[in-house]
Amino acid sequence: MTSCNISSLIIGFLVLAFIQFTRCNTLTSNYYDQTCPMIESTVTASVKKAMLNDKTVAAALLRMHFHDCFIRGCDGSVLLNSTGTNQAEKDGPPNISLHAFYVIDNAKKALEAMCPGTVSCADIVALAARDAVHLSGGPTWIVPKGRKDGRISIASETRQLPAPTFNISQLQQSFSQRGLDMKDLVALSGGHTLGFAHCSSFQNRIHNFATTQDVDPSMHQSFAANLRRVCPMHNQVRNAGANLDSTPTTFDNRYYKLLLEGKSIFTSDQALVTNPTTKTLVDKFANSREEFEKAFVESMIKMSSITGGQEVRLNCRFVN
Ligand code: HEM
Ligand SMILES: *[C@@H]1O[C@H](CO)[C@@H](O)[C@H](O)[C@H]1NC(C)=O
Ligand SMILES: *[C@@H]1O[C@H](CO)[C@@H](O)[C@H](O)[C@H]1NC(C)=O
Ligand SMILES: *[C@@H]1O[C@H](CO)[C@@H](O)[C@H](O)[C@H]1NC(C)=O
Repeated sequence: MTSCNISSLIIGFLVLAFIQFTRCNTLTSNYYDQTCPMIESTVTASVKKAMLNDKTVAAALLRMHFHDCFIRGCDGSVLLNSTGTNQAEKDGPPNISLHAFYVIDNAKKALEAMCPGTVSCADIVALAARDAVHLSGGPTWIVPKGRKDGRISIASETRQLPAPTFNISQLQQSFSQRGLDMKDLVALSGGHTLGFAHCSSFQNRIHNFATTQDVDPSMHQSFAANLRRVCPMHNQVRNAGANLDSTPTTFDNRYYKLLLEGKSIFTSDQALVTNPTTKTLVDKFANSREEFEKAFVESMIKMSSITGGQEVRLNCRFVN
């Protein structure tokens, strides 16, 4: 009787372990080798074509992957369209500048023709982000694959994204909730070597910063004055804003160099020099493009391994 109970206990444990294992959704670099060997070249072609026509595409694709992974894991939830009854992440509050969804759609369409129902949208986003970085002059790396697409996308959940007004402890908390540490935070913030921000994203630093200071004193003076010119207090120009570094289409370590000069755009960027651990890393990445690239690749693989989905969507904008 007792031994029977113990063996059923063991079997029960093994079953649970198996469920846990399959739920974990382990990613592998050769995931599509047999089922869709053209996946990588197909995604690369779509990204390349779009980048030739529009210099803002690379930044958009990198940010898209970050947003996808931070909400419900990298499950393509960022791609889903709103429906009659549901407002999707795409239409949630910090959605400004999320764009270039057509690049994912084009790759998906080509892949569905070659290997129907096989390649997840979440994998396409992960590969597109990698290609965007590489085609902007940054490093390349092998992307583990086998993500599944999720069936849920809720606009209000985008509030769980870190805000540009966050200080270092808030950033650390947001990243650690996703298994990412201080090194990941500093390395991945280097994504801000690409792209653009709208005035509303850094308004807090240049107007009414504090009761005694209108402008964030940690900002370089003439840099801040320029931003104030482009983004007046009651800005009416919808597309007004600033590049995130001085070489916004080149993936380099310029972001960290500017950060040390008080020429970063967000409070969350500046926060990285307010803590000794993160400041040391900023110094290191500012001094060595190689160290930055190595750390960025490592942290991208970590971030893009947060999984969450269940199916391979047929159309990236709709659940099956
Ligand atoms: C550390 C926390 C982060 C915060 C608070 C943050 C915040 C923001 C904000 C507010 C914008 C500008 C949106 C706009 O005004 O249009 C932005 C842009 C961008 N972010 Fe981040 N971000 C963070 C981390 C990341 C990470 C981890 C990546 C990727 C590795 C990333 C990549 C980008 C890119 C490429 C852009 C430019 C997008 C474009 O030009 O279309 N960010 N970020
Ligand atoms: C998804 O939403 C976008 C933006 O609202 C719209 O332009 C597009 O047509 C929609 N896609 C489909 C396939 O309905
Ligand atoms: C962002 O969300 C608003 C509603 O909150 C919506 O009207 C707008 O079209 C969305 N923008 C993008 C780029 O999806
Ligand atoms: C960051 O902001 C939070 C919330 O406002 C505050 O409780 C915390 O003390 C701040 N941390 C630092 C290091 O300034």
